[in-house]
Amino acid sequence: MAKSVTTFVCQSCGATSSKWSGRCESCGEWNTITEEKPLSQGPSKKSLGAMRGKAIPLTDLSTKEAPPPRTASTMAELDRVLGGGLVPASAVLVGGDPGIGKSTLLLQAAASFAKAGLKVIYISGEEASAQVRLRAQRLGLTDAPVKLATETSLRDILTTLDEEQPDLAIVDSIQTMWADNVDSAPGSVSQVRAAAHELTTFAKSRGSAVIMVGHVTKEGAIAGPRVVEHMVDTVLYFEGERGHQFRILRSVKNRFGPADEIGVFEMTGAGLSEVTNPSALFLSERGQPAPGSVVFSGIEGTRPVLVEFQALISPSPHSQPRRSVVGWDGSRLNMILAVLESRCGIPFAGLDVYLNVAGGMRVNEPAADLAVAAALLSAREDTGLPAETVVFGEISLSGALRPVSQTENRLKEAQKLGFSTAILPTGGKAAATQGMALTRMGDLTTFVGEVFGA
Ligand code: TYD
Ligand code: MG
Repeated sequence: MAKSVTTFVCQSCGATSSKWSGRCESCGEWNTITEEKPLSQGPSKKSLGAMRGKAIPLTDLSTKEAPPPRTASTMAELDRVLGGGLVPASAVLVGGDPGIGKSTLLLQAAASFAKAGLKVIYISGEEASAQVRLRAQRLGLTDAPVKLATETSLRDILTTLDEEQPDLAIVDSIQTMWADNVDSAPGSVSQVRAAAHELTTFAKSRGSAVIMVGHVTKEGAIAGPRVVEHMVDTVLYFEGERGHQFRILRSVKNRFGPADEIGVFEMTGAGLSEVTNPSALFLSERGQPAPGSVVFSGIEGTRPVLVEFQALISPSPHSQPRRSVVGWDGSRLNMILAVLESRCGIPFAGLDVYLNVAGGMRVNEPAADLAVAAALLSAREDTGLPAETVVFGEISLSGALRPVSQTENRLKEAQKLGFSTAILPTGGKAAATQGMALTRMGDLTTFVGEVFGA
């Protein structure tokens, strides 16, 4: 008889080990390791070879099977992030902080896909039917032909799905599901993994698309489940600042489309509404050009988005000055401060530095380096940049400015929104932008000298 082996699984990162310890060796968290029974022992030696998978030449696959037809919803922002609509038999994971609006988004998506002709079932493990119906009422979706189920048992859900044969099943959330053959509490890594595995298998075998909701831990990973990210075809994150009404749906993995694509929504009293011109939205809060404020022309996925960087510099009362960043990478900020200090001779010692991206947007591009440096300098010198100016460019450790991708698209978007001047690195594909003054620079020292006269 096969020996039953228990494993110890970290509930934070999903790492497994053969013995218990107080601290996870993989992620360093304390008290996150629990004992779990394995899902299955894997195929036994005997059964191997009985059901050999048939190999077919790659070339045979091509022309015969057309690419799967996608279904577009009426939500263009959602379709874009999915890579142009929902692919049949695909498994999608939507992650996000609790309360950010995942259920709202997916209920709206359910109604939208139902109206596009798909048979949709929405399974909620978090709310009672009455609550979901109340939400649908608020969103004005009561006439949508969406079926509703409130269920947490995976076995019951799979039975329901087998009977209903939907084109799309939405499961809210993966953390509330429990499989009775797994010996641990709902929300644990084993349970989440089992639920995701079963639902993904269902999607593949029956041709239904499955969208799963996953809550995100405070560290930013979908709870338990880097494992789940591997299983599904598409991983989307729904993010935004609680105090802002903007919400960004970002694809971090997509087997059927470009990753890093974003869709922008606004949370209103009647649900999420789409934002078709995000640049206008992110700049709308902007008043007169103020010291510390710089507009960056960025690229998110396939489209340009203008965002405003804001910096504040103040004398520090602490021996170790504060470096506080929202919406941008903290270590990248430190790098730019170091380059400003050692290459341009501008010290930030003894000064607290605060950097913020307006509107709750998060920027990941190194192309924003120059805009960050400009915001820091502008705040430090207490002088605003010339009005109607956008800035972009990557800064290398030597202080040189490096050209960035899609220069032309960045400039076009800036011009569309009324900007007349751009400061950018020399080199790169020259853009024929009519009526826009381009100031090209080769290194940070030139930039500091020309723009701030320092
Ligand atoms: P919800 O979709 O329940 O979040 P999640 O499923 O990610 O936990 O959204 C909850 C928040 O959204 C809640 O704070 C109220 C707000 N909201 C609106 O502002 N307008 C609306 O029309 C709805 C339905 C919710
Ligand atoms: Mg919810």
